[in-house]
Amino acid sequence: MGRQFFVGGNFKMNGTIDSIKEIVNNLNSATCDSNTEVVIAPPALYLLLTREHLRAGIEVAAQNVFDRPNGAFTGEISVAQLKDSNITWTVLGHSERRVILQETNKFVADKTKAALDGGIGVILCCGETLEQREAEKTMDVVLAQLKAVSDVQKDWSKIVVAYEPVWAIGTGKVASNEQAQEVHKGIREWLGEELGKEVAEKTRVIYGGSVSEKNCRELAKEGDIDGFLVGGASLKPAFVDIINARKE
Ligand code: PGA
Repeated sequence: MGRQFFVGGNFKMNGTIDSIKEIVNNLNSATCDSNTEVVIAPPALYLLLTREHLRAGIEVAAQNVFDRPNGAFTGEISVAQLKDSNITWTVLGHSERRVILQETNKFVADKTKAALDGGIGVILCCGETLEQREAEKTMDVVLAQLKAVSDVQKDWSKIVVAYEPVWAIGTGKVASNEQAQEVHKGIREWLGEELGKEVAEKTRVIYGGSVSEKNCRELAKEGDIDGFLVGGASLKPAFVDIINARKE
């Protein structure tokens, strides 16, 4: 039983009505590998626009969601509101939110649970900083981030884990195939110990951090790399080449 290849596009705080329509039109007319599951995450303001114009078969993700059902939480968006708008996924725990907005492992875990309880899939990001890697703390950091989630959530069938070394995000400095595979394998082993063999076999673990049309094919050959979370390159036509990284 193979895991379906998964490619996410994280637009971050980029784009305008016009440029996002252009990206969507490009995806609509592109020949995408039908074996790849594709999800794009525009800024919240453009979620509805994206869903309205994007063809069926490609899903839309929020870049964040709150863990409370509704009420006095200025600036936040709820899981129910995403569902109501046909937004079926959310990114959570991106390092930009963990670092800049100081989101804790526990907060990310609580939001993950809220999203899954409400029927939204989660692209759950994890990853170490350069200092942590150099101190040989990579697996400790990554597994602590994931353990916070497994403490509150045992069903991982709608979680895609995105391993994104912080030092590789937006830097043009991609992890080597060996570096990425090593961590992905470690994550899968941990999933097996923590949540059982089936979860380990079924959960997609995707790589993010300076993925491009140039490096994606080699990375996609690694046994434990089940796809990509793409930032900068998801804004370009080359995103289609990344979607097709496993296509002959
Ligand atoms: P990048 O971003 O591809 O621009 O490095 C990846 C991400 O942050 O998800």
